[in-house]
Amino acid sequence: MSTRIARISLTALALASIASLGHAQAQPKLKVGFMLPYSGTYTALGVAIENGFKLHVEEKGGKLGGREIEYIKVDDESDPAKATDNVNKLIKRDNVDVIIGTVHSGVAMAMAKAAKESGTVLIVPNAGADAVTGPMCAQNIFRSSFSNWQPAYAMGEVAAKEGKKTAMTITWKYAAGDESVNGFKEGFEKGGGKVTKQLTVPFPNVEFQALLTEIAAAKPDAVYSFYAGGGAVKFVKDYAAAGLNKTIPLYGPGFLTDGTLDAQGDSAQGMLTTLHYADGLNTPRDNAFRTAYAKAFKLQPDVYAVQGYDAAQMLAIGLTATKGDIGKKAEFAAAIEKAKIDSPRGTFSVGKSHNPVQDVYLRKVDGKENKVVGVAVKGLADPARGCRM
Ligand code: PHB
Repeated sequence: MSTRIARISLTALALASIASLGHAQAQPKLKVGFMLPYSGTYTALGVAIENGFKLHVEEKGGKLGGREIEYIKVDDESDPAKATDNVNKLIKRDNVDVIIGTVHSGVAMAMAKAAKESGTVLIVPNAGADAVTGPMCAQNIFRSSFSNWQPAYAMGEVAAKEGKKTAMTITWKYAAGDESVNGFKEGFEKGGGKVTKQLTVPFPNVEFQALLTEIAAAKPDAVYSFYAGGGAVKFVKDYAAAGLNKTIPLYGPGFLTDGTLDAQGDSAQGMLTTLHYADGLNTPRDNAFRTAYAKAFKLQPDVYAVQGYDAAQMLAIGLTATKGDIGKKAEFAAAIEKAKIDSPRGTFSVGKSHNPVQDVYLRKVDGKENKVVGVAVKGLADPARGCRM
């Protein structure tokens, strides 16, 4: 009996070693560190990004560049004060191969600094901080989303074309809000408009009443606003509750109404926003993605889910080119730089600064959808001011 077991296990051993001859070396699992908000106003955004990323990995049979994936998660709480400690948990404690994160621009800038210093590959699946693909740009830092300037600049052009002459802005006081307002101002003023006043509240506060009163008194032609997640729900509802949506159109980058329409209900109807994704694109690529996402997560996808999905696509492109060896930095970057990324949003490329060059859609809220109206700006590239690579 025992000889028989011994013979069987020897045979098993022999088979296993013959099998492993086929692979030069069994590669360990690739450690992917998610640093995302899993608490606070941006929680839903973090979850959608993780879902989108995992959906693509599952579509690839659980492996990228031949390597199985191990996930490690850190909740960054959208707190810049904790960002350096949090990113170092992934880099130094967990020794991850790649970091996927994050949503908040202030946190992302601390992550980019740590990634640049350590050489760890970082793919930013949302945060638009202009600096990440500007002065902080690096061979190992990529973005699958947008720069804060991109959708904002497009909305400025749209507002001017709509014939608006004056606009007030209102946002959270931090990098994303400031840069979004700057982008809008650039596009709007180039088209002959004038930003008359810039209002802010500290992140992540949602006490808007005093500022809404100020807007009502000043009566600009339009209001431009950057909020997202829970804050966007509250702001759009408060704007409508004050009756302002009847008299002064509320514009914004699409974050104001993406992933939030269930909660915003009537208050968002008819709003125009600009973004690199929209409902109703009705391409085979987007339809397949939406069906797969809804099936896997019992949820409709939004822009954040797309950005997570595309972060995984970019990682897959780099790993395929390096046969799973993420240490081959130059080859990894070169493959992504020359790729046409087959995104649900439409094909995009990232070029030298590693930020998507992409169409920005004009969308209009209709029921529970941000319906595509047209392309506001085609193939829009971030100016990547200050990026030297
Ligand atoms: C950012 O902080 O860059 C940010 C956050 C949420 C968004 C968009 C940008 O929806």
